[in-house]
Amino acid sequence: MSKILVTSALPYINGVPHLGHMVGCLLPSDVYARFMRMTGHEVLYIAGTDEHGTTSEVGALKAGMNVEDYCQMNHQRHRQTYHDFNLSFDCFGRTSSKQNREMTYEIFEALNKNGFIEERAVKQIWSNDDKMFLADRYITGTCPYCGYEKARGDQCENCTKVLEPTDLINAKSTISGSSNLEVKESKHLFLSLPKIEPKLKEWLKSKEAFWPDVAYSIAMKWLKEGLEPRCITRDLKWGFSVPKKGYEDKVFYVWFDAPIGYLGITKQWADEKPDERNFKDWWLTGDDVYYVQFMGKDNVPYHAITFPATLLGTGENYKKVDILKGFSYLTYEGGKFSKSENRGIFAEDAIKEFEADYWRYFLMSNIPESSDSSFSFDLFASVINKDLNGVLGNFVSRVLKMTASKFGNTIPAGGKTTELENTMLNTVQNHIDRYFKYMNALEFRKALSELRAIWVEGNNYITAAEPWTVIKEDENRAAAILRVCANLIRIFALLSAPITPQTAEKMLQAFSLNLGDADLKDFDVSKQIEFLKEGHSFEVGEPLFERISPERTLELKTKYGSTQP
Ligand code: MF3
Ligand code: ZN
Repeated sequence: MSKILVTSALPYINGVPHLGHMVGCLLPSDVYARFMRMTGHEVLYIAGTDEHGTTSEVGALKAGMNVEDYCQMNHQRHRQTYHDFNLSFDCFGRTSSKQNREMTYEIFEALNKNGFIEERAVKQIWSNDDKMFLADRYITGTCPYCGYEKARGDQCENCTKVLEPTDLINAKSTISGSSNLEVKESKHLFLSLPKIEPKLKEWLKSKEAFWPDVAYSIAMKWLKEGLEPRCITRDLKWGFSVPKKGYEDKVFYVWFDAPIGYLGITKQWADEKPDERNFKDWWLTGDDVYYVQFMGKDNVPYHAITFPATLLGTGENYKKVDILKGFSYLTYEGGKFSKSENRGIFAEDAIKEFEADYWRYFLMSNIPESSDSSFSFDLFASVINKDLNGVLGNFVSRVLKMTASKFGNTIPAGGKTTELENTMLNTVQNHIDRYFKYMNALEFRKALSELRAIWVEGNNYITAAEPWTVIKEDENRAAAILRVCANLIRIFALLSAPITPQTAEKMLQAFSLNLGDADLKDFDVSKQIEFLKEGHSFEVGEPLFERISPERTLELKTKYGSTQP
């Protein structure tokens, strides 16, 4: 398979992304996209801001801006942050784009024509104080299923149950805080999920062997609970107006047009270079595209059920997800990230403290894959100091400094390799094979531990080979060892590039190389170990990473509202 479509769940535009958002879909999708590109696949990597709905209206209201300007401003802010984290999107678009509007209408018309859209009278919550219907997040209350007190009108964050605003107990307006609410009736459009269910079941069944357990079991749990028609319109102003008579004052529900955004953003991308790029090549040709989606687990129901049902209902052969990777949550110093309570480190601030690769490496090696994982500055400092500084950084600086001081700034000639090198290369190749296997399988924690093991082999090797001792009796042999080590630096750079791309560039720059279109395809370490030849010049350069001191760690904890001592 050579064409791979990668999407990350589209972050809500109103919030500032924190490390949890980063690790819960954006970063792993980037790592995967980079890895797939480097292993010779044609990748299209799409994301963007999810802009419609009540949260944006509320956000704009609070900021005293009109919602278009507010979204424009926040889109730029998201864009900058992801750029700073080196996320390598082919297109970072917007769900409010004209392309997404066209896409949404096209899909709606097809569903309507096929009889999968039904009208229903809905009991809705009218706020006497706000003089409006309170949709979704304009209303909070207690979840009837798990008792969580801050459940929103459309979903309980705690138990992931999808809700209707009328389900909430002790409901309150999030605009005015008023509980002076009454139930009124109004007409809405529904997606007839039960009618699409047979097709959906058949399709889901075909995914059983391929989806990671978390995603498949969430989808099955949903199916077992039984599918209900799902309301796809809202009484709001901000959104795509509904192209149907009698619905002129309503807009589509944000969760209807948001996932369609993957297609809309692909159109946006294609429209930038219409001669070279084609939307259909990715979304309508079917079999030659392999589609991988990344998201937090609360998003799984929409991506495993509602969105595929939407696409199936059109009767068109739209590409549907092949692998759906859902993540659990990252907690902050034992609690939740909270902007309002100023607890947690947000991506914009994180990048001011340390370069992206510190975060990328830490987050990927502690990714909440099979259960929640936690961020704490103590853990962060210890991982950076041990792995990045102690293992990778230390190896690079040791090798380059020693070579420069004993032989000057070129890779030395002479000497032979021995059984020691063969054994080391064998071990490294085994780790590489497993690293590739886990990356392909989207098992990131395991992949990262293989990568770390590869770096460790470098240190083990130089410790065993002892070039600093050997050089006293056999200069040639020491030259051969340091030549191997220099090549290991290049190999480590290539292998690490999907995770820590900036560091990889720095490591390669020492040898006047760059990542360019560096290739990991059929990576054979016994060949790669001879890439850099004698006489190749290099620079020692600055250390790759800084050590994070206990004082600095304490300072960070205080600054970012840790409750841990
Ligand atoms: N904005 C949603 C969230 O952050 C995710 C939307 S994913 C999409 O939870 F596919 F619907 F866009
Ligand atoms: Zn709940």
